[in-house]
Amino acid sequence: MKLLVCGGAGFIGSTFARQRLREHGDEVTVLDKLTYAGREENLQDLTEDPGFRFLRGAIEDREAVIAAIEQAAPDAIVNFAAETHVDRSIADPDAFVATHALGTYVLLDVARERELRYLQVSTDEVYGSIEEGTFTEESPLAPSSPYSATKAGADLLVQSYFHTYGMPVSICRGSNNYGPYQYPEKLIPLMILNALHGDTLPVYGDGMQVRNWIHASDFAAAIGHVLEHGRPGEVYNAGGPDEEANMTVVRRIIELTGASEDQIEHVADRPGHDLRYSLSSAKVRALGWSPRVRFEEGLQETVAWYRENSWWWEPIRSGEYRAYYERQYGQALQD
Ligand code: NAD
Ligand code: TYD
Repeated sequence: MKLLVCGGAGFIGSTFARQRLREHGDEVTVLDKLTYAGREENLQDLTEDPGFRFLRGAIEDREAVIAAIEQAAPDAIVNFAAETHVDRSIADPDAFVATHALGTYVLLDVARERELRYLQVSTDEVYGSIEEGTFTEESPLAPSSPYSATKAGADLLVQSYFHTYGMPVSICRGSNNYGPYQYPEKLIPLMILNALHGDTLPVYGDGMQVRNWIHASDFAAAIGHVLEHGRPGEVYNAGGPDEEANMTVVRRIIELTGASEDQIEHVADRPGHDLRYSLSSAKVRALGWSPRVRFEEGLQETVAWYRENSWWWEPIRSGEYRAYYERQYGQALQD
């Protein structure tokens, strides 16, 4: 296939681009605005590949999208482009609305004119929090944060293009991802880097919130699987094989890094903090996908990757991220 991968310079988009080029022989054109979270370093090992092309541009910019489609001549658009951090959406929702609402609209509209397949990458957070049981594709949307609410809005718009225009769209919703190349504002890479640097480990509230962890390579594979085998107009959930409380994750990171339990600091809870996410993957499993990486093994590999790839995170920890960290946590990082 020839794919236009929007947001492909981010964590999961770059994992997907690598997987499609290396394991499926696809041609991949990445269109990415390069926000603070989008980094060409994430794609650096792909630049010599003749099937790969990188274009800088925003999905809400119609001209940039049209130019990208003309260059890529894609069979399908896969949209990862998003603002993705709940805490940033609480502090400043502006970009979330622009990218998720307007950006998704522009992509859909241009794709419709050209009769392209379209896959929207989405999140379990659109279903809200669940104390017991697990969400299916039939569960009602009940998002809690500006992040998840704007993602849910984008999903509804995508579905409207199927119902109204018969456009071949699909949506793939993932649970919490982890793995190499994840920006260290998210729980796992933040705790790994803080543990390695002797910084405090800021646990929101009591740390008993539960997340359903999926390795990014498994979520990327699920998205590819839906693209190849999914039915147009359908939603597919891809949840990871393991659920863990945040405190369990932090304690395991302490063991794997040799840090100290004394580094744990319980800080003010996130406003509107969702207690638990849990996602059933029965529908996409019926298409033949299943997750391969269990959390224990994936976390060990992820800690090892961050240990060995300081070239990747050193520029982040010395840049805008330091100021973000001080705003968010009210304390400075160690050098
Ligand atoms: P990320 O923050 O690492 O990357 C997002 C990418 O989108 C960046 O490269 C950024 O530059 C780009 N981008 C942002 N706004 C853009 C715009 N207007 N135009 C073009 N590019 C833009 O995020 P991620 O964790 O890789 O998430 C990718 C997708 O997967 C998102 O849609 C997210 O909602 C979804 N998702 C993420 C998770 C998770 O745990 N990280 C779980 C489920 C679903
Ligand atoms: P996060 O990685 O931000 O993902 P999401 O909010 O999309 O699930 O957070 C995962 C969990 O970890 C969530 O319950 C919030 C918690 N958390 C902390 O306790 N401390 C932190 O510094 C961060 C970033 C998250």
